[in-house]
Parts: sequence; C-alpha cells; structure tokens
Amino acid sequence: MIDPLYQGAYVFSMSKINPAIIQRLKELREKINQYDYEYYVLDQPTITDYEYDKLYKELLDIEAQYPELITPDSPSQRVPGTPLSAFEKGRHSLPMLSLQNSYDPQDIKEFDKRVRKFLGAKGPIEYFCEPKFDGLALELIYKEGLLSGALTRGDGLIGENVLNNVKTIKSIPLKLKTSSPPPLLEIRGEVLMFKKDFIKLNEIQDEKGEPFFANPRNAAAGSLRQLDPKITASRPLKMFCYAFGKISNFKFKTQEEFLKKISKLGLPTILNKHPSLVRKCSGPEEAIQYYEFMAQKRHELPFDIDGVVIKVNRIELQQKLGNIARNPRWASAAKFKPEQGITVIEDIIIQVGRTGALTPVAKMKPVNIGGVSISHATLHNQEEIKRKDIRVGDTVVIQRAGDVIPEVVKVILEKRPKHSKPFKMPKRCPVCHSEVIKPEGEVVLRCPNPLCPAVIQEGLKHFVSRRAMNIDKLGNKLIEQLYRAGLVKTFSDIYKLKRDELLKLERMGEKSVHNLLSSIEKSKKTTLARFIYALGIRYVGEQTAQILANHYGSIQNFLKASFEELVQINDIGPKVAQSIVKALSSPHVKKEIKELLKLGVNPQGPSQRQNVSSKLKGLSIVITGKLPLERETIKEIIVNHGGKSPSQVTKKTNFVLVGEDPGSKLKKAQ
Ligand code: IVH
Repeated sequence: MIDPLYQGAYVFSMSKINPAIIQRLKELREKINQYDYEYYVLDQPTITDYEYDKLYKELLDIEAQYPELITPDSPSQRVPGTPLSAFEKGRHSLPMLSLQNSYDPQDIKEFDKRVRKFLGAKGPIEYFCEPKFDGLALELIYKEGLLSGALTRGDGLIGENVLNNVKTIKSIPLKLKTSSPPPLLEIRGEVLMFKKDFIKLNEIQDEKGEPFFANPRNAAAGSLRQLDPKITASRPLKMFCYAFGKISNFKFKTQEEFLKKISKLGLPTILNKHPSLVRKCSGPEEAIQYYEFMAQKRHELPFDIDGVVIKVNRIELQQKLGNIARNPRWASAAKFKPEQGITVIEDIIIQVGRTGALTPVAKMKPVNIGGVSISHATLHNQEEIKRKDIRVGDTVVIQRAGDVIPEVVKVILEKRPKHSKPFKMPKRCPVCHSEVIKPEGEVVLRCPNPLCPAVIQEGLKHFVSRRAMNIDKLGNKLIEQLYRAGLVKTFSDIYKLKRDELLKLERMGEKSVHNLLSSIEKSKKTTLARFIYALGIRYVGEQTAQILANHYGSIQNFLKASFEELVQINDIGPKVAQSIVKALSSPHVKKEIKELLKLGVNPQGPSQRQNVSSKLKGLSIVITGKLPLERETIKEIIVNHGGKSPSQVTKKTNFVLVGEDPGSKLKKAQ
C-alpha cells in the first residue's frame, strides 16, 4: 500500500511544497530518531530492520527531491548510534563505515556497473562474496600481536571500549599465532550468538525470572555491552572477522587472501568452519546466484545472517574506489526480505512452565513461511501483548524473526473484528486454578502452586533433559503419559519404574521398555554439576550448578551449604544463595535427594574424579587477579593434574598465577 501522504509528494512537487510533505518528513525524523535510540542505545528495537530501512529510504527519497527541506538534525545528517556513557569511549583510527544495501538482488548488476564505470574497467571485475552476519560490528586492535583494544562501532567515528568484555570471548585470541606479529592490526568483524545458544540463554533468563531476548542479535548486543565482564563471560558469544581498519606491515592482495592470512593468525573467520559459505564470483550474475544459494541455505546455518555482502576482491581496486559519504564504493549488501506471512489469531493460550511462569502463546491459522508451516507464536508476556495490542480474532503479520522464534510483527487494524476486546491474562492458573501472582520486579505472572500438574511435569521434563540427567529415552510425551498413569510424580519415581507396569502402558513394547529402563539406569552415573542443575532450583542454571559442584565437591557437602558460605563463593549473589538454602531446607527436597541416592543415583564431584595427569604433582599454585577463565575452573584444572591451589601465599607456595589487577598476594609472593 502506498502511503497517501507519500503519493502527495509527487503530485505537488511542481509548485509549492505540500504541507503534508513537511508533516511527513517531521514524522519520519521523529520515528527514525526514536527507533535509532531503541536499537543502538537500548538494544531493544521495536520494529524490524526491513520496516526501518523502508522508513529511512522514504526519508532519503523525500530529501533528495526537496533538498531545501534537509535540516541539520535530520537522521540522514548523522551516523546512527550514541555510545553508552557508562563505557569509556575510543576513537577509531579509520571510520567504521556501513554498507549501501538493497533488498533486490538485481541491484547487484547496478553496483557492478558503478564499480566498472568508476574504474574505467573493460573486462569483468572479480567479487568476493560473504554472508552478511546479523550481529554487531566490533573492532579488535592488536599491537605487536597482543589484543590491546576493542571498540564497538558506536557512531562510526567513536565507539565504546569493551576490551574487558571482549577478552572473555573464547574464540578471540588474546595473542596472535605468529612469531613475527605486525606492529598494528585493526581487525573488524561481527559479534553474534549462535541460534542454539540463544535458545539456551532464554531458558536461563526464564529460570532467573528475567526478560527474554527477542532474537540472537539483541542477545549478543546486550551481552557484549554489559558493564560487568563477568556477565559477558557467561554468555556464549562468537565472532566472525571480515575487514580491517588501520594496519601496518601486513600485506595481502585480495579480500580472499586477507581472510586466509588472518585465519592463520588464529582469528575466527567464516573460512575456519564454513569455507563453503563464501564464494569468489567473476561478475554480478554469479554473485546473484550466490545470493539465491545463501537465501536457501540461511535457515540451516547455526547463526543468523540477514543477507550477503559483495566485495571487490582486489585490495588495490578497493583503494582506488574509496568511499562515498559513509559507504565504501567497493562493497554492497544484498539483504534478504524477511519472510513474513499474514494469518489470523484463533486463540491465545497460556502455557505454564517449570517455574510456574505463565506464557501467552498465539494459536494461529497455519501459514507457510519460508517453507515452514507456522501455527504458534510466543507473545512473551502481558506487556508485549499490550504494546502490540494483539487480540484474539486479529489478522496479523508474522515473521520468522532472526529465524528462531516466529513473532507477531503487527496487527492489521483495518481487519480487526468489530467487537474484539483487549486480551487479559487470566487471574487463575489454567491448569490447577490457583490464583496467579506477580512477583515484585518481574514482568511475568506465575502459578505459585508447587504441586500444580504443569509445574510438576515441566520439572520432570527438565530433570531428564539432555543437559541435566540425560535420560534420552524418556521424552516429553512419555513423561506426560507416566504422570497421567500415576506412575511418576517425583524425580525418584523415575528410578522406581518396573518393567511390568511399563508394559501395561499404551504403545510400550518389550523393546521400548528395555531401552527406557537401561537409559534410566545409565543416568545414575552422573556429575555433581548435572545433578544439582537437574534439581531445578530457582536461579541455579548450568553455570551456577558447575560453580557449586566445583566448590562443594560432593553432594553431602552441598547439602550442608549455608547462606553465609554460599555468598562467599564468587558469582553467587544473595538472591541465588537464598533460593538454594530455601530449596535445601525443604523437607520434600531433602527427602527426594536422599531417595535418589538410595536408589543408586551417584553424582560424582570434580574432587572425586580421577586425576587427568600428575604433571603438577606436589605443586602449590596460588591464583590472583582477573584471568580469562573462571577461578574455580583454573583451580579444577590444577587439582585434576595433581596440584593444589590454596587461597593464600605461604612459604610452601611454588607458583603464583597472576591475572589482571592482581591483589596483595602478588606483593606477598614477591
Ligand atoms: S564489510 C562497510 N562484511 O554490515 C565496511 N560487513 O551495514 C565493510 N556486516 O557495519 C564491512 N557481515 O557490521 C562486512 N561479511 C561482512 C559483514 C558485514 C555483516 C555488517 C557490518 C557493517 C554492516 C554494514
């Protein structure tokens, strides 16, 4: 649909400027400024890139037609992004540009024409084509081979110094793999989160009662720009390097050679793991084929991409082409159209999770989007529904946002049924009918009943899940069946299941019963960390469970954990400590753990495990300062190799492992 105001622009352009144009421009500028703020400052965009790009293009088009209307405060006059004041700022040696982009792959031909015309080229130009990663741009600064700076893009000229956070990203080398490093190497790339890690992170957010991230890009941005590097460290961030800033004494002739050379230095590039995802093309037609190939492939990839980037391969030609305004002339992005569909919301159902959280889910008339039939979309919570004003009966635009979760983009208000009413979350749990509560400071509503059938079944599903007890033959459907049959209500019931009673169940033959029982048996031998995680204690995710296992070493010690002791452990705050103490003092939990142990479940703590080697035998190594690995993890490594790692320096100390900002231990040792 063409916006009527927009059409007006052409009708009246011959004579006096239509006031409607001036109004539209004002509107566009206000909207774009707001969206920029939401995207760059808050990491919480409220519209899709596609919608944003359309608005931005509309603004540029009007301004191109009426240059007299351009004002210095128009978003077109500045590069978007305001660095967060909380981070120290740093100036990029060379501006971080952005790419000119289009949603029509045929525009690649126009791009090629411009390139050839500018160069006066007779023959075809060679292009190097890469995925357009959907994350956030980052510049790494290596001086003499050492990672000594990391700046976000910011406004392109000045970024935020996030070095301490970046150092926690394991795939980024702190030191380049070479004996003769170049004096300066500024490497640019994209930080992102893999789809599976994003799903896992949202599960953790749910566990903690914290808001969900809308997509992997937001999760990556939110994780990198944490003031506390510890939080960044706990988030599984990845990086793909693809460009350079200022460099000295580092030579290469093509983009392809550049990627090969930096991969050899240990930097993460697309060549390391997915070499088939780049292509050298000898003209625009091949580049268009590459675009089509990637558009097909995008859903299979472990990370989100939002298009492809076409780069002139020869660096010498890139330099001749130079930049125009804030875009390089030698590269162009062809973006994918978001895969959207229109359908009707038939119902809004409420799911009750393991923690009792009530999640509204839209049940829709199935619609095919990018080859996948979509019939459900999470609506997250009441606030989200209110913001988008989503109602049962509404016709909505939905989209596979960032590939992972289908989301409702917007409601088509013109199609709203006459008597529709705003959606209200229920006052009672739809499963056990207990009155729901809204804990202070949380956005979600919760069913407070620990015996709610939904809470119990979800808890059981968590207990057996892959990263917990890993009982792979006990799937969700079977748990529900066992619960309905009254056979399993608690964790320990799983270990009491008998062959005969299982055989009586529907769809359970000799073979499946045998497989189920042996997978239950196998799960008895597990690690302490998995066991603690499986218990499903609020705020105790995998990471926390690992820290607790490392600290306590055995289940018997863990059961004696006190609040005072817990808060002494690095990374365990009072909220988590309180939750653990509450769980461990519950007679039900105590009885369950005892029962599980009696039934043969045998969680092994790290200190009970066999040593890996005796390379550090007899050595006492004290740790001080911030190190790239968790202190508990380093201690575990030392212990596993036969050493000891006490917390104080004494006469018996053999070594001190010194990290950043070391404490008094270093002085004492010296
Ligand atoms: S090359 C523009 N290559 O897209 C300077 N950029 O709007 C050279 N991006 O800011 C950038 N994947 O954050 C380049 N393979 C890739 C990319 C890529 C994603 C991002 C980058 C840039 C934005 C352009």
